Amino acid sequence: MIGADPVRAITILPGVANSARLEDVPEPPKDDGAILVDTIALGVCGTDHEIVAGHYGEAPDGQKRLILGHESLGRVREAPSRCGFAVGEHIVGIVRQPDPVPCPACATGEWDMCRNGLYTEHGIKGRNGFGAERFRIAPDFAVKVDPALGILGVLLEPTSVVAKAWDHCDRVWRLKSAPARTLLVTGAGPIGLLGALLGAQRGYEVHVYDHNASGPKPALVRDLGGIYHSGELDELAALAPDLVMECTGVPQVIAALLSHVAADSVICLAGVGAPAKREFDIGAFNRMMVLNNGTVFGTVNANRRHYAAAADALARADRDWLARLITRRVPLDNFTDALTKQKGDIKVVIDFAQA
Ligand code: BGC
Repeated sequence: MIGADPVRAITILPGVANSARLEDVPEPPKDDGAILVDTIALGVCGTDHEIVAGHYGEAPDGQKRLILGHESLGRVREAPSRCGFAVGEHIVGIVRQPDPVPCPACATGEWDMCRNGLYTEHGIKGRNGFGAERFRIAPDFAVKVDPALGILGVLLEPTSVVAKAWDHCDRVWRLKSAPARTLLVTGAGPIGLLGALLGAQRGYEVHVYDHNASGPKPALVRDLGGIYHSGELDELAALAPDLVMECTGVPQVIAALLSHVAADSVICLAGVGAPAKREFDIGAFNRMMVLNNGTVFGTVNANRRHYAAAADALARADRDWLARLITRRVPLDNFTDALTKQKGDIKVVIDFAQA
């Protein structure tokens, strides 16, 4: 089954905790797409941790194991002529593939808004990921990245998720006469910090809340021109932000935010947490939302427009600042270290070029 030149890949058994292993898999099948890519790097995120813990993830139909990884960066090794991509170019694979029906959203390129749940996601849901030395992708689902970004190109996928969140926040702000100005981001992980970056690029007054009072995060926020907060979240009620980008997924944080909705404010929920039963006064919540013209909405994934917006945001960002988001680069052989959380981690990257 495995060709003469096997491909090493990180695979997991969905639903089984700590089943991740590095193994030889066959050459990526031609059906996966016309572009053959040599992987440069793979970012690790909260979704990967959930999959490795056995809480999430689905193998492709007819297969037991799933190749992990959805935050890709690779170099084109083979591409058909006139496909829009040339050998040597740096590319990132789009995570979600439209459902085959397709639903009205997927039929029009808005697969990030899939309406029937039959979409697939590389490395997450029903489709192998990019955590292999080589992968294939169709030109329609590949995005070019400026090679000058180097390994920072691996930040394109998480930035696309944030670009979508911002696209929707822009559309949801309901006060016609004045734009939103104050942003509060909760959670200074990669999504929160990239959300803060895009907020700063849009001219917002940026505030970031995180439970860590030390480490690299306070300086990263300050260097965006933002204000860093830790300690009691309730103290931030006085801030009355126009926009809250919630990136922790932590019930206590969300509960605090939902109890202090400022007039006209928009709360964008962008973090996924584990289900947790707790008492929630729906009557009080309703009162708070109605009497404040409040908006709460959720967002996930990204479509091609968002990848383009993300590429633009990364191009405009300070490279040294972006580089500080990557706190660990781990060679493929030590991939288990990358999948194990460490204090001080922001973005951990598996480096496929490092021996
Ligand atoms: C990915 C998204 C995906 C989501 C849910 C996130 O980590 O970045 O592309 O839609 O997980 O599976």
